[in-house]
Amino acid sequence: MPKLRFLGHACFLIEGENQPALLFDPFLTGNPLAAVSAEEVKADYILVSHAHADHLGDAFSIARNNEASIISTAEIAGEAEAQDVKSHAMHIGGKHAFPFGHVKLTVALHGSGIAGGHACGFVVNYYGKQIYFAGDTGLFGDMKLIGELNALDLALLPIGDNFTMGIEDAALAASFLKAPLVIPFHYNTWPVIQAVPEEFKQLVEKKTTSRCLILAPGESYSWE
Ligand code: NI
Ligand code: MN
Repeated sequence: MPKLRFLGHACFLIEGENQPALLFDPFLTGNPLAAVSAEEVKADYILVSHAHADHLGDAFSIARNNEASIISTAEIAGEAEAQDVKSHAMHIGGKHAFPFGHVKLTVALHGSGIAGGHACGFVVNYYGKQIYFAGDTGLFGDMKLIGELNALDLALLPIGDNFTMGIEDAALAASFLKAPLVIPFHYNTWPVIQAVPEEFKQLVEKKTTSRCLILAPGESYSWE
């Protein structure tokens, strides 16, 4: 069954035995919380939510080393192609079937970090597991729609505030999304996004029907 590993900040790896590995927002070089180095990580697809350095990070070099494909918005995919990196361009609202399942791009209320672009989130169906990776975003009401349209198994939500949702808004997001499991990210990498994930867990488990799991960088969650 699939395993999700938190590699620090906004970087997650989803993999299964003999199944392609999906890497999200691989900012590892220069990441004070990185659980692995960019040279060590193995991936087949790299999903990039936007081009800020703490998300695009090592995506192109990891893609080159692994012959992996970038999955992202057209602007970031275009930049990948310009740098001789394989990519699959998508855009917000669009869904595409890959060998592991499908990926749909969602809106994210955030800067794109690239000219003419948009930040996005992802709903990923990985061998039947439905995972929402919110990317960097503020709270938005259409998260209710994401929860209604997708029977999510897991929601990955930023909680560090300042650049994204803070704890209270992220707990509201969890109530909109209705995933049985929520995992926080994008906190404590730097002082400006300091947050106490236990406070988020308490709030989520008090105000919603979701369970919250806090993963330290390097820790994993496996579906049974
Ligand atoms: Ni950002
Ligand atoms: Mn960020």
